Amino acid sequence: MTIVRNPVISPDLLNFEVMSEVNVNEAYQEGNGAKITSTSKEEIDQSEDVKEKRSPAAEDQDEEDDVQLSAFTMSALQEFVSEQLEREQRRQQAEQLAQDAAKDPDQLADFEEDWQLSQFWYDDATCRVLASEALRLAGPSGRVACLSSPTLYRHLRKVRPPELKLTLFEYDQRFSVFGPEFVLYDYRSPLDVPGDLREQFDLVVADPPFLSEECLTKTAVTVRLLAKQHILLCTGAQMAPLAGRLLGLHECRFRPAHANNLANEFRCFASYDLDSHVSKGTT
Ligand SMILES: C[S@@+](CC[C@H](N)C(=O)[O-])C[C@H]1O[C@@H](n2cnc3c(N)ncnc32)[C@H](O)[C@@H]1O
Repeated sequence: MTIVRNPVISPDLLNFEVMSEVNVNEAYQEGNGAKITSTSKEEIDQSEDVKEKRSPAAEDQDEEDDVQLSAFTMSALQEFVSEQLEREQRRQQAEQLAQDAAKDPDQLADFEEDWQLSQFWYDDATCRVLASEALRLAGPSGRVACLSSPTLYRHLRKVRPPELKLTLFEYDQRFSVFGPEFVLYDYRSPLDVPGDLREQFDLVVADPPFLSEECLTKTAVTVRLLAKQHILLCTGAQMAPLAGRLLGLHECRFRPAHANNLANEFRCFASYDLDSHVSKGTT
């Protein structure tokens, strides 16, 4: 059998083959025949027969060109080569992913809904309406806050003018892949927001995680801290009276909807006349 001189074959493996042969020969000569497989002994016998009939020059040539590899070594070699190939493929895939992620952090994590965190993502049409309002109110270089509304933030990232400033206030740390635009936010600590972001936002869009008085009351404190003027709140229909009392919001005809249907009656509340803009084209 002739060795294929494949550059990916480890020299260790070839050493292993030579060592194996030495050990087998030694064991055979020392009379430890029990340790030698019948195939190995036949191989040795056959090679002795052949040696007797050939010239020394031919033998030398054969020794250089031909090395007998056992079935075990062949299969170890094949396994080694396929492992090398697999490793190389995985390395190339990882490199590709890293390159894509450097371009777009959106691809760094999977953003499946986590119901433990009360996550219900907007459908595309809802994102388009809310994003369109954000662009209209903030202009090309204004500022928009997405409070517990990461789907809207991700949509806005795709359609934003380069100068538009976006901030995502979120409890779910998966969204920290968005770097400085992510601010860790827990509605239970409503005053815990960076001082330099107070009253900076042309529009604050909030979608609190729970339909409770406690949650909306605390969320409203943060909304007031951040907003310059315009506010949109998406939450359950039953929160209408509290949304009016706490933030002066009124219910809109526009209905936010979710990618996975929600049983709750869901509504949008605004500090201005949202409905008159909704049909005028969305992003
Ligand atoms: C009803 S979902 C609103 C998501 C929105 N519909 C969207 O598609 O972007 C509630 C959001 O509140 C976030 N959240 C969960 N616990 C929170 C907490 N303690 N403080 C602030 N936000 C929280 C969830 O991660 C989720 O993004």
